[in-house]
Amino acid sequence: MSEQNTHFIFDPMAAKYDRCNHIFSFGVDGRWRKRLIRAVAPYPHQCVLDMCTGTGDVVFSFLKHSPVQDITGIDISESMINLAQEKQIRFSRRVWMRNKKVSWTLADAARTALVSGSFDAVTCAFGIRNIPDRTATLNEIYRLLKPKGKLGILEFSLPANPLFRIPYKFYLNRLMPLLGQWVVGDKEPLRYLAQSIGHWHTEVDFSTELARAGFKLIRKTPLSGGVAALWLAVKR
Ligand SMILES: C[S@@+](CC[C@H](N)C(=O)[O-])C[C@H]1O[C@@H](n2cnc3c(N)ncnc32)[C@H](O)[C@@H]1O
Repeated sequence: MSEQNTHFIFDPMAAKYDRCNHIFSFGVDGRWRKRLIRAVAPYPHQCVLDMCTGTGDVVFSFLKHSPVQDITGIDISESMINLAQEKQIRFSRRVWMRNKKVSWTLADAARTALVSGSFDAVTCAFGIRNIPDRTATLNEIYRLLKPKGKLGILEFSLPANPLFRIPYKFYLNRLMPLLGQWVVGDKEPLRYLAQSIGHWHTEVDFSTELARAGFKLIRKTPLSGGVAALWLAVKR
């Protein structure tokens, strides 16, 4: 799978994406997104941007679990953005959707047309690993944040403890592609997921990349025994 076309993986499986997330993470993904939102902790008047928003789960989680009233979701996949908009219509009568401003933008996270310094917080859940031009994306996020604005990144990882890492890698590399065939009708997206998590965990020094983009107060917190990790960083 070439790095240039990873987002095309998400178009064909967009409709099944949410189901996959919940099944393969045993329903823990919602808890991880809540951790992300609590960590970023926006105030009611603040503007939030969610990069690689997919079907908008982080956006809706912010609206449900934080006082934020103005949020934008960006994704490069039109199918994902369409599904996010359909969800917004479905949720429109919920109490937590009242008086909220939600915008969706079809764009590459590495080069958006949004105004510099317009967001108090930027989040990205399970997206940064898939982006080929991560340096440009981190520079873009830095540009879009206000001074002292917060960045919260959620990403898959591998457990540090070998007693957990070995069975987890078996699940990731062997069982998940088989389950993928059953749930999505194709092993390839889940094979790609396993490969990309392995590469991300062993090859990428993400804290250094964040520091190089200009961020300070960089903190990494392992979640669920290291299956996922939450990075927090602040614009200088
Ligand atoms: C694994 S999904 C994560 C969706 C969502 N954040 C969540 O928590 O479920 C990754 C998303 O990143 C998007 N994506 C990939 N490359 C991108 C890019 N360069 N710019 C913006 N979005 C991108 C994909 O289209 C996909 O919707």
